[in-house]
Amino acid sequence: MNISIVGVGHVGLVTAAVLADYGHTVMGLDDDAAKLEALRSGDVPFFEPGLQELVDRVTADGSLAFTGDLARAVDHAEVVFVCVGTPGLPGGGPDLRFIERVAVEVAQHATRDVVLVEKSTVPANTGARLTQVIEREQQRRGSDAAAVHVASNPEFLREGVAVKDTAEPDRIVYGTASDLARERLREVYAPMVAAVGCPVVETDVPTAELIKHASNAFLATRLSFINAVANVCDKVGADIELVAQGMGHDARIGHAFLQAGIGYGGSCFPKDVDAFLHLSRSVGYDFGLLDEVRQINAGQRQVVLDKLRDELWHLTDKTIAILGAAFKPGTDDLREAPAIYLAEALLEEGVTVRMYDPVALGGVATALPDVKLFDDPLVACRGAHAVVIATEWEQIRSLDLSELKAALGYPIVIDGRNCLDGRAAMDAGLHYHGIGRGHLRS
Ligand SMILES: NC(=O)c1ccc[n+]([C@@H]2O[C@H](COP(=O)([O-])OP(=O)(O)OC[C@H]3O[C@@H](n4cnc5c(N)ncnc54)[C@H](O)[C@@H]3O)[C@@H](O)[C@H]2O)c1
Repeated sequence: MNISIVGVGHVGLVTAAVLADYGHTVMGLDDDAAKLEALRSGDVPFFEPGLQELVDRVTADGSLAFTGDLARAVDHAEVVFVCVGTPGLPGGGPDLRFIERVAVEVAQHATRDVVLVEKSTVPANTGARLTQVIEREQQRRGSDAAAVHVASNPEFLREGVAVKDTAEPDRIVYGTASDLARERLREVYAPMVAAVGCPVVETDVPTAELIKHASNAFLATRLSFINAVANVCDKVGADIELVAQGMGHDARIGHAFLQAGIGYGGSCFPKDVDAFLHLSRSVGYDFGLLDEVRQINAGQRQVVLDKLRDELWHLTDKTIAILGAAFKPGTDDLREAPAIYLAEALLEEGVTVRMYDPVALGGVATALPDVKLFDDPLVACRGAHAVVIATEWEQIRSLDLSELKAALGYPIVIDGRNCLDGRAAMDAGLHYHGIGRGHLRS
């Protein structure tokens, strides 16, 4: 099938490459000239394991190409996937300008039946809005307007394992009121379903949109729940790791997303929880649970700062190393990364902040020019008053604890990801604080 992908960022580029690898002929489009230039010269402009190799392969055999010309991309496609950003706005709702613009432009350029698929995460009512703007554009064009069929096909990939998640999804969800769109989406996904046997959930548009919102909100709720339990563990001298293990063995609960820590970040959970809360309120239902989820998450960053203050009293003029900048391992994405929040808060208090990350330092240099950057975690810690672990990269999990102790000026470790062996750290002479590991101090 001929497919175009509008917006070749973290979702769009992976989707484009994977669909090309499954045998479709894919054209990727972006309005960011620098990104397009990089892609045309063969460079993937962000870090995602396995993506560069996949893009190399599918561009070499001609199944994926890039363009900056929307008319060309629409002309090429039977299905257009829209993967543009939907960043959060100050009021909580997402900014849907980009997706609206794409819908209008597709309606302007379509010369034959085309399916427009929202893959970006959008509130449940966006499909109806897109249909409205498309119809308006078609009325303007008059008799030469071609039909644009709207569908929703939310994306569930995780950065860091995005290629695998996209090529071998747990499930595929799409919703549409159009028979043609449903048939074409079945055809798009047929080779993937045949290869991995994943379930397919076919719905209407608002249901598909809501599945995405509800999924992310639920995962964020699990994380805030376990973080709240961790805070109680800290107070009563219990061990959150064993609490989570004990809970997770219950088949009704399971182990996933019960890792306590510094809180979730990234480009999805924070904005998607906000957007779902905003949507619910806008339709007259106050989803207060999600408000609490947000607050607990914000509080986790404060928990780390409180632990630092407990150990160091005041922080001004001290030197603190932060290990890990990306919002999670396997990506260089710094959007809503807890490490960036921490660094900003510490800089504001007059702290000298040092940071280590194996892949994300380029972005830190741009976002926070006052942070001192290190490509070796132990060198970053040398002489520091304390170290905070903000991302559980393998390079950090596997640090030699005696070397860490020897590097630090004061042997204070705040493990915001519970990724070190706390008991071994204490045995190595470190003042170790995890999140919810109160048993180590009692
Ligand atoms: N990143 C994730 O892990 C993830 C997972 C699931 C869903 N999503 C959702 O997918 C959407 C995209 O997220 P992302 O992380 O890929 O964002 P991104 O910022 O990495 O990519 C978006 C791309 O769209 C391009 N773009 C914006 N407007 C455009 C236009 N009018 N024409 C052409 N290109 C345009 C941008 O230049 C950018 O390259 C968001 O709605 C997000 O919530 C993201």
